Amino acid sequence: PAERLALKDRIRRLLKERNAVMVSHYYVHPDLQDLAEETGGLVSDSLEMARFGRDHAAQTLVVSGVRFMGETAKILSPEKRILMPDLDATCSLDLGCPSAEFNAFCDAHPDRTVVVYANTSAEVKARADWLVTSGCALDVVRALKDQGHKILWAPDKHLGSYIQRETGADMVFWNGACIVHDEFKAFELQALKAEHPEAKVLVHPESPADVVALADAVGSTSAILNAARTMDATTFIVATDNGMLHKLRTQNPHKLFIEAPTAGNSATCKSCAHCPWMAMNGLAGLAQVLELGTNEIHIDPALGLRARVPIDRMLAFTA
Ligand code: 13P
Ligand code: SF4
Repeated sequence: PAERLALKDRIRRLLKERNAVMVSHYYVHPDLQDLAEETGGLVSDSLEMARFGRDHAAQTLVVSGVRFMGETAKILSPEKRILMPDLDATCSLDLGCPSAEFNAFCDAHPDRTVVVYANTSAEVKARADWLVTSGCALDVVRALKDQGHKILWAPDKHLGSYIQRETGADMVFWNGACIVHDEFKAFELQALKAEHPEAKVLVHPESPADVVALADAVGSTSAILNAARTMDATTFIVATDNGMLHKLRTQNPHKLFIEAPTAGNSATCKSCAHCPWMAMNGLAGLAQVLELGTNEIHIDPALGLRARVPIDRMLAFTA
């Protein structure tokens, strides 16, 4: 604990000295969430992280999350210095959607509007007409459908099929999944619900369809937080990365939050639903990058300009 406190102090001092601001995702370690908030930064979902990074005056942003979040920040603010505690923190959706294959998929469907999830590389974004996060995907696809568009969706098949079920849009899908949310199990969730009949079920839409079907609220990490705050219940079962429990519990100290079951939930696995790449973010790495200015995100400027078009569309749509 003494070392942890010393690291936090060092980070607070370095943030001031470097005129830097912290932007953290809800899935990173509680220390990195709390530090962001107490130093004038932000902890939020991927949509609001992008907006905050773009709009903040600080010329150095330290993004705690996964690589696409740092890359989006750099694409939106090429003049700023974007640092991350660990540059190897990727995402299974990004890894599962290489740009050459994705371009071929788009070429095979020239009549479709390309809608791409934020959890992708800059190259994939550069091919998109629209970028979305789970915070706005439903509204964007609904609006496109109303305008007569047929959709090519990538890369998360579960989020895509959820949106198709909700909107009835004509969609073709890339076959990608989040390795964390893909593990939630409907049969076991039903059994847990039976044990807690009063509980409301909160589900991130990267989860499989049969899990989403058991939800009382479905949405982005911010939407889950909002549902927990506003729903008339005191017990919740939560099907998303368990990093989320920190904010859920601190904002709702009198409510009970229970982790939804995954395939790996057992006596030996207490913390299965946690993204291994989000877990790579830590205090020591953060202090080091602030001290040394290492782990900077670079994006080719011409690529960044192309990738920015669909991101700007998303931010304008949700403004
Ligand atoms: P949110 O946009 O809901 O924060 O989700 C990002 C993410 O990576 C979920 O796994
Ligand atoms: Fe990617 Fe899933 Fe990790 Fe989110 S939780 S960053 S979607 S692997």
